[in-house]
Amino acid sequence: MAKMQRQGRIIILLGPPGAGKGTQAERLSSSLAIPAISTGEMLRQECRSGSALGLAVQELLVAGGLVSDELIQKVVADRLAQPDCAQGCILDGFPRTAAQARFLDCFLAGSAFTAPVVFDLAIDPQILIDRLSSRRQCPVCARTYHMTLGASSSCPHDGSELVIRNDDQPATVKRRLQIYAENTREIVGFYRNRGYRRVDASQPVEKVTRRLLSLLGNTGESADLSRPLVAAQQLYA
Ligand code: AP5
Repeated sequence: MAKMQRQGRIIILLGPPGAGKGTQAERLSSSLAIPAISTGEMLRQECRSGSALGLAVQELLVAGGLVSDELIQKVVADRLAQPDCAQGCILDGFPRTAAQARFLDCFLAGSAFTAPVVFDLAIDPQILIDRLSSRRQCPVCARTYHMTLGASSSCPHDGSELVIRNDDQPATVKRRLQIYAENTREIVGFYRNRGYRRVDASQPVEKVTRRLLSLLGNTGESADLSRPLVAAQQLYA
């Protein structure tokens, strides 16, 4: 593969469904002026547009399964080759299998991006269930909101009626958490000595963002690593 001139920093956000990857990706994107790339949102957009890709993956997404490594790797490689990624990007939801992590590694080596920084958004499963059952999404601008008592049911940005994501039904959430648990140990093992930082994602949104930004400013900081990692299988099974 010919080397592209890409000097930017790649930030990978790992974490279970509802950990706040999308929320933090958008906030980091604003602070760092690099794009947030959500593979889940890219796939949902394909479904909404009715494209061939969207039709092919729709059923799988609703059931909470993973699309194939080959398919998502192509989607990500194409996206990373776009000019707006030249200064780096935030990857939300990729990689999520060991094969995807290995693919990304090869791709980045061939592309001259710097080695990725990997943030693992760790959180108690009970908080996830609460977050996912309270999440609503705008079908037009795709912004997500955490519904609290008395909150408006329309999007403050464009007034559209907010909806529940297809894959936020309880049975599907359970399936997504299982799939996360099955894959995550290998990915964490892959990155553990390579830019990996574990971050407490149960904190308020602003506090998590501050923590991520401070770790980006001081990658030598390792306080979170001193906490024992509980096996994902134990947490989310
Ligand atoms: P994807 O969209 O990536 O889903 P996910 O990983 O399950 O993550 P979520 O989007 O559910 O949660 P999040 O961590 O982004 O949390 P959020 O910020 O929204 O993927 C969907 C599907 O696409 C997959 O199931 C799969 O089918 C497919 N797919 C995607 N990538 C793939 C890949 N690489 N390979 C194969 N298939 C792939 O926050 C959740 C809620 O909590 C929100 O309401 C938010 O407002 C709230 N919240 C966030 N942070 C906080 C906080 N600190 N305090 C209080 N509330 C908070």
